[in-house]
Amino acid sequence: MSFEYPKHIAIIMDGNGRWAKAQNKPRTAGHLAGSENVRRIALHANRNHVKSLTLYAFSTENWARPEEEKNYLFKLPAIFFKKYIAELKRENIRVTYIGEIERFPQNTARIIKDAVAQTAENTGLNLCLAVNYGGRREIVTAAQKAAEKLQKKEIEEITEEEFASCLMSETSDVDLLIRTSGEIRVSNFLLWQIAYAEMIFVSCAWPDFDENQFDECICEFHHRNRRFGGLK
Ligand code: IPE
Ligand code: IPE
Ligand code: MG
Repeated sequence: MSFEYPKHIAIIMDGNGRWAKAQNKPRTAGHLAGSENVRRIALHANRNHVKSLTLYAFSTENWARPEEEKNYLFKLPAIFFKKYIAELKRENIRVTYIGEIERFPQNTARIIKDAVAQTAENTGLNLCLAVNYGGRREIVTAAQKAAEKLQKKEIEEITEEEFASCLMSETSDVDLLIRTSGEIRVSNFLLWQIAYAEMIFVSCAWPDFDENQFDECICEFHHRNRRFGGLK
């Protein structure tokens, strides 16, 4: 494709369960297929010089899922990185995460942190996994941090820039937010960072969302008129 890709793309990877149900498979099969798609879309984004791809993998609300499903989700990072860490390293992809990972089972947290460490020197795509992530939680934590800095007189006032620097992610604002599987809501994802994001909601389930559909979203993004409150 001849167009430039947005710098920061965020995806709410939704619809794994419905994808599985449609094929008479257990929900866990949908999550496994969804994790395979993480590889496909990350490689594609990296090839096209996207700077950051933030993927919503587990929300602070997903603790409400059945134990069996959560236990499978906690196992997925081990399956995924065992298979693909060498490829991610080779492809120059840097793995990072946002979210309160310490609340995950120890082994799950260790595997994710290990992937981060192993790819820390890479300079290509920043593949940021949102794990046990909630936008409100992030904002509250940032508010506490900023208040503390103010109290210690490390800063004179809480500006937008200062506040943003206290967020979990040090990534830039989101340019494009995509949600798969037809729901039209943000489900507590990157609330601060999506202030001026273009949003695209596609009907297909996450495991079926391929490179062509991704590129169609980029195409639509380029047809949007981003005014940022001004006139253009
Ligand atoms: C998204 O797929 C993955 C996670 C939330 C972990 P879902 O599991 O929400 O799939 P649906 O929405 O039930 O189809
Ligand atoms: C959002 O999907 C969270 C992730 C994709 C990880 P959900 O399926 O949990 O969202 P709701 O419950 O439909 O809003
Ligand atoms: Mg869902």
